[in-house]
Amino acid sequence: MAWGGVIGGRWEWISVMGWWLLLLAVAGYLVPATEAACSAERVVIFNFGDSNSDTGGLSAGLGYIFPLPEGRIFFNRSTGRVCDGRLILDLLCESLNTSYLSPYLESLGSDFRNGANFAISGSATQPRNQPFSLFIQVLQFFRFKSKSLELVAQGSKNLVNEEGFKNAIYMIDIGQNDLSAAFGSNASFDIAIAKIPSIIAEIKNAIKMLHDTGSRNFWIHNTGPLGCLPQKLALPRKNDTNLDPYGCLSALNIGAMEFNSQLSNLCDELRSEYTDATIVYTDIYSIKYDLIANSTEYGFESPVMACCGYGGPPYNYNANITCGNSNCQVCSENLKYISWDGVHYSDAANTIVASKILSTEYSNPKLKFDYFYRNHSLCLTIVFFLLLLNFLC
Ligand SMILES: *[C@@H]1O[C@H](CO)[C@@H](O)[C@H](O)[C@H]1NC(C)=O
Ligand SMILES: *[C@@H]1O[C@H](CO)[C@@H](O)[C@H](O)[C@H]1NC(C)=O
Ligand SMILES: *[C@@H]1O[C@H](CO)[C@@H](O)[C@H](O)[C@H]1NC(C)=O
Ligand SMILES: *[C@@H]1O[C@H](CO)[C@@H](O)[C@H](O)[C@H]1NC(C)=O
Ligand SMILES: *[C@@H]1O[C@H](CO)[C@@H](O)[C@H](O)[C@H]1NC(C)=O
Ligand SMILES: *[C@@H]1O[C@H](CO)[C@@H](O)[C@H](O)[C@H]1NC(C)=O
Repeated sequence: MAWGGVIGGRWEWISVMGWWLLLLAVAGYLVPATEAACSAERVVIFNFGDSNSDTGGLSAGLGYIFPLPEGRIFFNRSTGRVCDGRLILDLLCESLNTSYLSPYLESLGSDFRNGANFAISGSATQPRNQPFSLFIQVLQFFRFKSKSLELVAQGSKNLVNEEGFKNAIYMIDIGQNDLSAAFGSNASFDIAIAKIPSIIAEIKNAIKMLHDTGSRNFWIHNTGPLGCLPQKLALPRKNDTNLDPYGCLSALNIGAMEFNSQLSNLCDELRSEYTDATIVYTDIYSIKYDLIANSTEYGFESPVMACCGYGGPPYNYNANITCGNSNCQVCSENLKYISWDGVHYSDAANTIVASKILSTEYSNPKLKFDYFYRNHSLCLTIVFFLLLLNFLC
């Protein structure tokens, strides 16, 4: 044995034994301490929003089933997502090596250790007292939080604790349905634009309610180019002079940009008011608009045509025969479309959008999505070595 040559006499042997005992004691003390520190660093995300980030909430809440071809590229089964695969939120979870968020309303098979998803397809900020508005989603979160803390106090290990709620990322991606309603009615452009401040006020209220109860890390997505959605483009219009160079409806995009500008201002305002909070604003609009404008460079087919819909070119969208209808027409699986169903982006498009979000280039401030969990892998490495040490001793 290699040690044999080194440990010559009795005193050296005792000294080595002493070191082992010391290490054992240190490891025995540090493992629980580090584990506690690590559990506080566990990734926890709470998400609020609409179908852009609904991982099955509407399905769970109202019993809706989104059958294949929904999910066909990635899950190959109905998950309640309105997409052929993963949403931006799913890809962001993948980047943190955490599992996809369970919908708050999903009673079977849910795992709430890494947070919960309150987003529900079709949600808007207004009317605020109607399920499942942003306000209602925040109330659901409050109930989830108090119930979790109650159970943690009783010894539950599979729920987020006080520290976890404090360190969690609070994501909000909402407004598209509010804008869609505002601009979809017969109202004039000016009247629709005038509705934006009240949408922003609801988002402000949601952030305030969360901040007042201890949430500190906010990750806010702005809204995409509404006027590039095949659903909007397929509506009858008198002439095409209102299309931009990429074939999107200018008025709707101006509306989306106005919303985004006010949302960005709100984030600036809250950042100076809540000096104890981190508020990241991410420009999804620019990412998606670039994807559409430069679609061929990203390898996509017809940027404003839905893969799954009805009617064929130029938009393959018909409000009466949408994706999932037995008569719908679906593009071949090996074709890359930006729009999955005329309203929602495809797995392929979301993959690019998520990678751009992760680049920090579109965020203000330019923080990485793993900013709040930087030390997580380091902490796991330390635990691993301490456990190894413990085992050897
Ligand atoms: C998806 O599921 C269907 C039916 O269960 C099966 O025939 C098909 O091979 C599956 N496709 C993939 C990619 O797993
Ligand atoms: C996730 O896992 C990958 C591969 O194991 C690793 O490179 C990456 O640093 C991990 N990310 C985080 C945030 O832990
Ligand atoms: C929209 O306005 C036009 C005329 O301005 C009117 O004919 C039409 O009925 C209106 N549609 C709705 C849904 O209110
Ligand atoms: C097309 O729309 C523009 C702007 O709304 C209007 O000024 C123009 O007269 C319209 N042209 C035709 C041919 O209807
Ligand atoms: C398209 O790509 C070019 C080159 O990367 C870029 O300068 C331009 O801003 C992009 N277009 C849009 C609308 O983002
Ligand atoms: C959808 O159905 C309604 C009622 O049958 C009809 O009036 C409308 O034109 C249809 N819309 C489209 C886009 O075909």
